[in-house]
Amino acid sequence: MEKIQLHTQAPAAPLPIVIAGALVQGKENYLTIGAYGIMSIQPPVVYISSMKAHYTNAGIKETGYFSINVPPAGLVRKTDYCGLVSGRDTDKSGVFTPFYGKKKLAPMIRECPVNALCKLVKTVELPNNDVFIGDVIEYYLDKSCLADGIPDPKKTEPLLLYGHSYRRLGRAAGTAFAAGKALMKKR
Ligand SMILES: Cc1cc2nc3c(=O)[nH]c(=O)nc-3n(C[C@H](O)[C@H](O)[C@H](O)COP(=O)(O)O)c2cc1C
Repeated sequence: MEKIQLHTQAPAAPLPIVIAGALVQGKENYLTIGAYGIMSIQPPVVYISSMKAHYTNAGIKETGYFSINVPPAGLVRKTDYCGLVSGRDTDKSGVFTPFYGKKKLAPMIRECPVNALCKLVKTVELPNNDVFIGDVIEYYLDKSCLADGIPDPKKTEPLLLYGHSYRRLGRAAGTAFAAGKALMKKR
């Protein structure tokens, strides 16, 4: 297969879209994040990379907490909106219905089926971004979305970003930790 070299940039791969929430000066604020990832499954540790200029960053630094919310495809307009306007000049607190865990630490979004409350444990400073690393201390799921102990993707309908296009999940392509077993026997 012939390769062509592209202008150097972050390689295209689908990004899971999440909405991060934080209290900024006591008020709920939300921002859309593609640069989200899991750093450790057990214990659960996640990161978001947020540009230093973003209003939400001040709240995360101030309170030491942020939330991760996985929006369903039906929330694509509100999700995009939270990534277009800043809490610095637009009040985004009413865009979603907030709920809190055991304490009022960071707002989670009732309309998103998957939610996590994260305690900031480390901030990695890149030239333009704060990478917030957080321990997941509380995890919530809409009861109706539970299947075999995990979220059912047909019900949670997470969004992926590829280029400038929001995508839904496609068909299953194989079973993890099982699809490769056929090759193990051959070698
Ligand atoms: C689909 C999408 C993905 C985004 N991903 C990121 C991201 O990973 N990191 C980031 O710093 N900003 C990202 N943004 C931009 C912020 O969400 C946006 O600038 C937001 O308005 C900042 O809000 P705030 O100033 O209220 O914190 C994204 C925006 C969109 C629409």
